[in-house]
Amino acid sequence: MVRRLIFLAYFSLCVRNLNAVLYDCISGQPANSTQLRIYAERNNIEVCTVDVKPCDPEEWQRVDGSCNNLKYPSRGAFRTPTIRLLPLDFSPNYEPRKACDGGDLELPRKLRTELLCSGKVSEMKLTQLVSYYILFSTGDINSIHDPLNYLFNITYCCTPKGKDDYRCTPIKVPVHDPVHRFSGISCMNLTRPQSFQTYGCLDNNTDFVRIVFQTPIYDLSNVYNFEQGFINHIRTFKNGLLKIYPAENGLLFPETDPESIICKLNQRPRETLCHKYLSNNAIGPNIMTILFYRQHNKIAEELHKLNPSWNDDRLFFTARNINIAISLQILLYELLPILLGRKNLIKDGIISCDEGFRDLYDENIEPLMTDEYAYVHRWFHVIQETSMKFYDKDGYFVKTYPLVNATGHTGMLGVDDNMVYITQGSFRQQSGGFDFIIDPDMSERALGGFQLATDVGAFDLAKGRYFGFSPYIKYKEFCTKKSYKKFSDLKDSFSSERLYRLMEEYKCPSDIDLMGGLWAENFVKGGMVPETLYCLLVEQLRRTLASDRYWYERPNRPHAFTEDQLKAIRKVTIAGVLCWVGDHVTEIQPKAFYIISAKNPLVKCSSSKIGKLDLSAWKE
Ligand SMILES: *[C@@H]1O[C@H](CO)[C@@H](O)[C@H](O)[C@H]1NC(C)=O
Ligand SMILES: *[C@@H]1O[C@H](CO)[C@@H](O)[C@H](O)[C@H]1NC(C)=O
Ligand SMILES: *[C@@H]1O[C@H](CO)[C@@H](O)[C@H](O)[C@H]1NC(C)=O
Ligand SMILES: *[C@@H]1O[C@H](CO)[C@@H](O)[C@H](O)[C@H]1NC(C)=O
Ligand SMILES: *[C@@H]1O[C@H](CO)[C@@H](O)[C@H](O)[C@H]1NC(C)=O
Repeated sequence: MVRRLIFLAYFSLCVRNLNAVLYDCISGQPANSTQLRIYAERNNIEVCTVDVKPCDPEEWQRVDGSCNNLKYPSRGAFRTPTIRLLPLDFSPNYEPRKACDGGDLELPRKLRTELLCSGKVSEMKLTQLVSYYILFSTGDINSIHDPLNYLFNITYCCTPKGKDDYRCTPIKVPVHDPVHRFSGISCMNLTRPQSFQTYGCLDNNTDFVRIVFQTPIYDLSNVYNFEQGFINHIRTFKNGLLKIYPAENGLLFPETDPESIICKLNQRPRETLCHKYLSNNAIGPNIMTILFYRQHNKIAEELHKLNPSWNDDRLFFTARNINIAISLQILLYELLPILLGRKNLIKDGIISCDEGFRDLYDENIEPLMTDEYAYVHRWFHVIQETSMKFYDKDGYFVKTYPLVNATGHTGMLGVDDNMVYITQGSFRQQSGGFDFIIDPDMSERALGGFQLATDVGAFDLAKGRYFGFSPYIKYKEFCTKKSYKKFSDLKDSFSSERLYRLMEEYKCPSDIDLMGGLWAENFVKGGMVPETLYCLLVEQLRRTLASDRYWYERPNRPHAFTEDQLKAIRKVTIAGVLCWVGDHVTEIQPKAFYIISAKNPLVKCSSSKIGKLDLSAWKE
């Protein structure tokens, strides 16, 4: 049997080799015959290699991410391994590291309940859209295969069977838990993060390398999909358009698969909408994915009107190029300055202060993503407001709806006015607070109807241990170049109350978990996020700017924008996007991440104050 597989594998290789090369995912080099034989024996050639057709230095940016770097063509493709800023820190067998006294670290659920309070606080300046957009942009570079694993594949982690399964890493609830001492729940289902070891691409005794399916470049993987060939299911191959599915309520959505089990919370038979090729995740990123998907078609339609002679390919790739650029322009120039501080970002070279081109590209830097980058985004769970306020198209409040009930519940968007209500609510409702307080639905039932109890904060902390992150102070040292031996060395970065909390929960500073430290740390000057979070985000953004050959601000890249085109991109804001592709959005505040106020009043979408896309610079 195995022999036959090997034979088949070689046979198909010979055929494929005519025009493509199989690259080893791990090394980023063409896979040699020894390597291929090993993968074939394990029956996982498909997972452990990427099939890269020869790169053309002038071609459009590929959907699967390959050929971003011409020296390392498979880097940047889906299933590129992640990298680490700091060394792995595990006990043997990838079990969590031990405390300084050799014992176990405190339970994640205990730390979450002690370090973060559960309650409701609003951020009065910002809108709910902030959390939606952050999650959406994280979804471009990070896949949700781990939650799917414990929700659909390994579902027994809290049962006796789970005790013997290495893949199970359930969250233990302490006996004196403030909530669950009353509920009888003593365990929350959770599985070990999947790695290249899990998939058999690396031997079990090698260093853990996390597997991520999304491409490690910002290229709207969550809108166009990222797997090789999948884009062909999504394109119509006519006028550059993507396939559209009109739902019962007349609104437009990506292709749907009514049979999918992922949309478990769909109220059948009425609610049937469920994305077939895109992720059906939390409602915020889900909505944004739908909007950017539609936006692709809007762009393609206008380009077609401007340039009737352009063929399907040119329209598709130009529209995608513009769509990606808009998503990044909003992230870098509209959202991150609010969160990380505009001056900080200019000082650190993440954003530029003029309208022109920028080119920070260095072909020697591979397009890779640090594990730390995706991981620290989890801190933003503390800002999630979970009582979604629904507003109708005229801005009248309709009702509140629990955000967590909308996860994996794409079907609700296809019926009634829910899509309209949520879109309107996104820019009318306050964001959750940026603080030490987590919304009770996030800390107790974050996975809604999928699980009885989920404490997303405890999960975040626990996952950091199963990813093998170094302790918080190592990251602090990496960021500040100072050394932290005693708790008192940390006093400049924590209030005395927060530092006292940490001392109560951790025996030594070197015990503090990365997430535990972030939960308690002071915010960066001029920004709204913890100092070390700022540092780890900026670290990766620098790498991204230097390593993405197709970065939209570059003048020297294939199919680069002209100066006028880049200027048109720079004018687009999230308000402009919502006006263009949001359902029944006719008025909005120009700065939609900020709440409606006297200085930021609602204006008509036709107002010149709204940053809309003007495509006239693309007319030939
Ligand atoms: C084949 O590739 C593997 C992994 O990249 C490498 O360790 C090994 O030395 C290579 N073998 C030969 C014969 O080149
Ligand atoms: C989960 O199960 C599905 C269907 O049984 C399978 O296609 C998928 O590969 C599994 N995922 C993992 C991570 O094992
Ligand atoms: C690694 O361990 C898992 C679980 O014990 C096993 O299924 C898998 O075959 C092992 N992989 C290799 C490459 O030995
Ligand atoms: C939300 O889900 C919970 C169960 O997880 C259910 O009891 C509740 O009725 C749901 N609320 C709404 C408004 O659907
Ligand atoms: C864990 O999963 C099992 C099996 O799916 C389920 O019965 C149980 O309610 C889950 N536990 C929690 C706390 O949600």
